[in-house]
Amino acid sequence: MTKRYYLTTPIYYVNDAPHIGHAYTTLACDVLARFKRLDGYDVKFLTGTDEHGQKVEKSAADAGIDPKTFTDTVSQNFRDLCDVMNFSHDDFIRTTEDRHKLAVQEIWRRLIERDEIYLDAYSGWYAVRDEAFYAESELTTGADGKKTAPSGAEVEWVEEPSYFFRLSAWQDRLLKFYQDHPDFILPKTRLNEVVSFVSGGLMDLSVSRTTFKWGVPVPGDDAHIMYVWLDALTNYITGVGFPETETGEYAKFWPADLHMVGKDILRFHAVYWPAFLMAAGLEPPKRVFAHGWWTNEGEKISKSVGNVIDPIELVEKYGLDPVRYFLLREVPFGRDGDFSHQAMINRMNSELANDYGNLAQRTLSMIAKNCDGKVPDRGNFTDADMEFLNYNQNLISGVRQDMDRQAFNEVLENIWVGVRMSNGYVDAQAPWKLAKEDPARMATVLYVLAEAIRHLALLTQPFMPEASGKILDQLSVADNARTFEYLGPDHALEPGTPLPKPEGVFPRFLDSEKES
Ligand code: MSP
Repeated sequence: MTKRYYLTTPIYYVNDAPHIGHAYTTLACDVLARFKRLDGYDVKFLTGTDEHGQKVEKSAADAGIDPKTFTDTVSQNFRDLCDVMNFSHDDFIRTTEDRHKLAVQEIWRRLIERDEIYLDAYSGWYAVRDEAFYAESELTTGADGKKTAPSGAEVEWVEEPSYFFRLSAWQDRLLKFYQDHPDFILPKTRLNEVVSFVSGGLMDLSVSRTTFKWGVPVPGDDAHIMYVWLDALTNYITGVGFPETETGEYAKFWPADLHMVGKDILRFHAVYWPAFLMAAGLEPPKRVFAHGWWTNEGEKISKSVGNVIDPIELVEKYGLDPVRYFLLREVPFGRDGDFSHQAMINRMNSELANDYGNLAQRTLSMIAKNCDGKVPDRGNFTDADMEFLNYNQNLISGVRQDMDRQAFNEVLENIWVGVRMSNGYVDAQAPWKLAKEDPARMATVLYVLAEAIRHLALLTQPFMPEASGKILDQLSVADNARTFEYLGPDHALEPGTPLPKPEGVFPRFLDSEKES
């Protein structure tokens, strides 16, 4: 049976242009999706846009456009970002699609049938920016008397008829669920936060609104529209064909292996979502990973400060693969991190151009010059050759484990041990000297290096698909020989295979480009 892997990004609010936070969440999923495909899994990778609710309705009104036209335009910007970033999602969902409306109304019906929802009235605080209800005790009152949520979002008082989900009844079952599935929430520090929130007691959750219109109507009571988070979270099952559950993609892919989210929206994913699902008689997902937030040169990113980082500008300045590499290399995944141009340039120049690029470039140029532009003869490997090659051939097992806990920076660190070891091998073996003294040994050394580079390039494909592909092209590795099945000595390069003319893959970022 084929192994399956289903992963999702949050669906993004279409109130705004895409920024680095959106690019980061989806990038992490893209790398994992690519990794799993190369590792033989049948993968479903879902992303999309969250288009209902008061916040989007308000943004459309501010722009003087009807919400449908507004969401069409902004949703397209998120699709465009996917193209620029070379994301490999299999599906892009919009909550305004009919397939989604069908799914949300069906989950609602199931919740009603099981008596998990009842009609009452809500009076309390609501933050439009977070699309979240807050208890008085969670709020802070500023000097101007204005109340704000822990996220800093302003709250407003709301009083209206509302349906409620019996969340309070789920406290013990959620706590048991976390206990039985210790890897449901990663990183572990986030699990502790969630457990302490749930242990503190849960209130029933308002799940419908009546004071605006932009949403999915409640079945049988269209004075109400569904709470945007119930609507949005359901996208993860719409994406696999819910309400059809017996056959098709739901049967194949659900429960999802991973919902990747930012730390700010963990509560919705790790508390409300499994409760909704269990209450509707559906299985909860296997994991929610909450990543950290980026600051910009030490400052919190905010529209009012005007320091929002546009991922498209970064890509124009530094190139796509260096940006993809940097975002996952710079910060231990799960922690907050700081974006700085200097840090970007340092990594680009030292780790990509000097370490990896130079390794490939000098090896391939020596082969072009001294081995007639063909994969050199293997000759006889020494113990040291074998030991060196073994390291690179065996990298995959550690990489697999680190990928399975979303430790992207550790994956890259370990691959770079292989890169640096390879540069050390070049320096120690000095093949340029061997060219005159012992051409047969030179051929072996260059062969061993080419094999090491083949392994490294296979492994860096999920992070830097284009650059890694170019390195594999220069080793004449066939397109259909680039999955992880081809790691190891059984699929080693064939001596005598003609190689194309080598060219650099990782340009240095020059000081003269800094201001451009
Ligand atoms: N629509 C909801 C998600 C619904 S999922 C069922 C939402 N949308 S969002 O557009 O606000 O999502 C933003 C995503 O980007 C979140 O995962 C958030 O954590 C992430 N980021 C926003 N700013 C960020 C940084 N400065 N740094 C890293 N990620 C950040 O929430």
